[in-house]
Amino acid sequence: MDTRFKTIIEPFRIKSVEPIGITTQEQRSQYIKEAGLNVFHLKSDRILIDLLTDSGTSAMSTEQWAGMMRGDESYAGSPSFYRFEDALKKVTGLEHIIPTHQGRAAERIVFQTLCTKGSLVVSNMLFDTTRANAEAAGCITKDIPCKELKNTELESPFKGNIDLEKLEEILTKEKVSMVVMTVTNNSGGGQPASMANIKACSELCRKHHVPMVLDACRFAENSWFIRLREEGYSETSPLAIAQEMFSYCDITTISAKKDGMVNMGGVLALNNPEWAQLCKNNLILTEGFPTYGGLSGRDLEALAIGIFESLEEDYLRYRIQSTAFVGRGLQKAGIPIVTPPGGHAIYVDAKAFLSHIPVTQYPGQALAAALYEFAGIRACEIGSVMFGRPLPDGSEEPHLQELVRLAIPRRSYTQSHMEYVVEAFEVFKNEMAPKLKGVRFTYKPEVLRHFTARFEWAD
Ligand code: F0G
Repeated sequence: MDTRFKTIIEPFRIKSVEPIGITTQEQRSQYIKEAGLNVFHLKSDRILIDLLTDSGTSAMSTEQWAGMMRGDESYAGSPSFYRFEDALKKVTGLEHIIPTHQGRAAERIVFQTLCTKGSLVVSNMLFDTTRANAEAAGCITKDIPCKELKNTELESPFKGNIDLEKLEEILTKEKVSMVVMTVTNNSGGGQPASMANIKACSELCRKHHVPMVLDACRFAENSWFIRLREEGYSETSPLAIAQEMFSYCDITTISAKKDGMVNMGGVLALNNPEWAQLCKNNLILTEGFPTYGGLSGRDLEALAIGIFESLEEDYLRYRIQSTAFVGRGLQKAGIPIVTPPGGHAIYVDAKAFLSHIPVTQYPGQALAAALYEFAGIRACEIGSVMFGRPLPDGSEEPHLQELVRLAIPRRSYTQSHMEYVVEAFEVFKNEMAPKLKGVRFTYKPEVLRHFTARFEWAD
């Protein structure tokens, strides 16, 4: 990138375009009502800017599409697998590379195969499918994020760190099957972990003979934050930073739908040959033969190429800047967010933004529904609808935070789309937010309720 200019541009041009859903507020008001005020029930061609997730929503490159054509669909021993294996070995340095259809399949296999029932799985913060898979394997999960994470307004560089003091205490006193470092910390605001923290976590794990797992969905974004913010890395390539990060883990699970730049795909990689064999045996039951693991040959090709594209400096500079543009724009407009801006998403603090809506009326859900109605933007509640715990008396223990996540798909939207998002919030803040009502459940499922629940506006 030419350093004479301040403007950071998208390092690509557009070859194939996809129309987006242009609708009126009146239509959207009807659509969201029909969807039970739950954005998961909306038809996506009625959405203008879809920030529901950054998972599986990336635009692929010409090289990836070319790779798709080369995909070899042999059941066993496909050259596409060997290209995928080479790419993953180069990035992770791990010996055994196992493809899976997405991240959670890799998680299920790891926990089912290698954990002891009743033991702990400790993490800086588990993503919800990771937690569900660890618990389904009979483990007890415990999140020990660093103290800085609790303060949403604190501008601290590595709020995705694990609390090392607590970790040492737990490793000394309790039976732990695994320690999972999630980079970046998705449930905790997309915040990165530092190399020093990852390394220290690894040393503690090795001292106590507990395997360390890197949940590395957003490994490239975490690498870029290390380069920007950690001493000694400003000249190091993102690939070399990623390689160092992976060198500290024993196992990695990766949802390639994020920094793998593919629409579907996952990876399980590890060094221990006996564990690898056990995992492959489990893989065959549900995912498929170990040289395709639930993916087509063409998916393996796209992944082998995408994993390096996400580590390109010009791409990462634009990516992190684009997310920060939205975050800083919202801050300027007086919208409270988790700071500093994360890598893949901005998290709006709905409890602070809509302080007139009580937590019992789910301000995050109300904001997500209203944002769609007002501006055609789809975002996702990460608060008490997702994580509230029912109490025996029929009431509910609310989640600590009521956040709304604006997750930005990779290479899909342009700067003007991001400007629109910021402006939409500015206008929403004055026109709709002050009179916005809360919501109440009309259908409340028992598990993973945010996906299927339905609501109405509260009085
Ligand atoms: N780990 C993390 C940190 C994730 O964010 C996700 C998915 C997974 C594991 C599971 O991967 O979806 O390929 O099975 N996160 C998506 C999201 C769904 O919207 O944040 P998967």
